[in-house]
Amino acid sequence: MLQGKRIAFGVCGGIAAYKAADVVSKLQQAGALVDVILTEHAEAFVTALTFSTLSHRPVYTTLWEPTGDAAARHIELGARADLLVIAPATAHTLARLAHGLADDMLTTLALACPAPLLLVPAMEHHMYQHPATQANLRLLAERGATILPPEVGHLASGIVGIGRFPETAAILAEMRRRLGRSGDLAGRRVVVTAGGTREPIDPVRYIGNRSSGLMGFALAEEARDRGAEVTVVVGAVSVREPFGMTIRHVSTALEMREAVREVIAKADALVMAAAVADYRVEHPARHKIKKGSQAENADGSLNMRLVRNPDILAELADARALLRVGFAAETTDLTEHAARKLVSKQLDLLVANDVVRENSGFGSATNEVTLFHADGRVEPLPPLPKRDVARAIWDRVVSLLRERDSETEMPERDPATFPTA
Ligand SMILES: Cc1cc2nc3c(=O)[nH]c(=O)nc-3n(C[C@H](O)[C@H](O)[C@H](O)COP(=O)(O)O)c2cc1C
Repeated sequence: MLQGKRIAFGVCGGIAAYKAADVVSKLQQAGALVDVILTEHAEAFVTALTFSTLSHRPVYTTLWEPTGDAAARHIELGARADLLVIAPATAHTLARLAHGLADDMLTTLALACPAPLLLVPAMEHHMYQHPATQANLRLLAERGATILPPEVGHLASGIVGIGRFPETAAILAEMRRRLGRSGDLAGRRVVVTAGGTREPIDPVRYIGNRSSGLMGFALAEEARDRGAEVTVVVGAVSVREPFGMTIRHVSTALEMREAVREVIAKADALVMAAAVADYRVEHPARHKIKKGSQAENADGSLNMRLVRNPDILAELADARALLRVGFAAETTDLTEHAARKLVSKQLDLLVANDVVRENSGFGSATNEVTLFHADGRVEPLPPLPKRDVARAIWDRVVSLLRERDSETEMPERDPATFPTA
């Protein structure tokens, strides 16, 4: 996604300017060609040498350099950029941009640059909340700029408030999202579920599973980078949540069902990568179950009745406008179980994996899956990093969505076409 992309990266004279160095470094590592432009005041905080060393490219600080080129540097840099990012964007530069001023390299380039603009404001919280700053941000957003709002946290002024420069991962995610707007999922809304559910036994214990959230998050990030508007419904996970998408937290299977039903209203596709518990404790104890308490049997054993949870995907079988992708984590007879699930839940695609196999399934960075298509095709994929598995799944979903777009009516499925159903 960032590989080979040309990024014009403006840095203003804010205290967060040093943090921009990390963003530039990560961009360079991701294969982006980063042209850094420092304002005069940025140079009071950081040096061109720092950024040039990290970007492996020249850094631009002045509009007045006699380059000898036919196209002035600011025009050339602006014209070739895929994205213009200004991070940190100071209150002063936001004001200059809002008014169309062009009194230095960065603001002149901003006017001359047809690429999308991403602004990352960072400043003391009164400065940020000042009506002038807010009005400038609104105006810039109206003109099409993407604003990544600052975070609440410890500010250089010593107080806690809004104005903090977001972390590198959040900025990179926003850049990917902005660059992905011309991707093959642009204009699509997708919902992904990730992680595992927790079914309470009592207030401190639960029945859970080993889902890490890795596969679901890989799917969500891939969709984001291809232009989709992504909502992730997240259960219990053991990895960091991605940025650049809407995240809904849930705990139990019933909560996940509720959240999914709410967020699919306008969605084009639902990919259920979460490991949802099939059963829940019928009556979770209100207080912690103690050893030797009345709940215990005479022989020290404890009885718990489990009841079946609803099948979220199967319940949505009537939602024909929604393309539905399921996951099947199996430990035996993968093909048979998967094919049966595909038919019984009337899915468009089922991704099956043998979770006891090495380098596959829960917590593993890679996954070896077989895709079961609604038309009966069975497509085994080689062991791949989860992000590549996600890519393959969205490739198939994109084709299905296109097919659906061009169809007026859904063709009836013939269950007999499934090999082992
Ligand atoms: C120590 C110090 C820290 C500053 N930090 C910020 C800041 O975080 N955000 C901001 O908008 N302005 C900050 N300023 C004010 C800007 O440096 C000032 O408005 C300057 O004119 C910005 O110029 P530029 O936008 O062309 O880079 C700071 C100033 C000083 C002296």
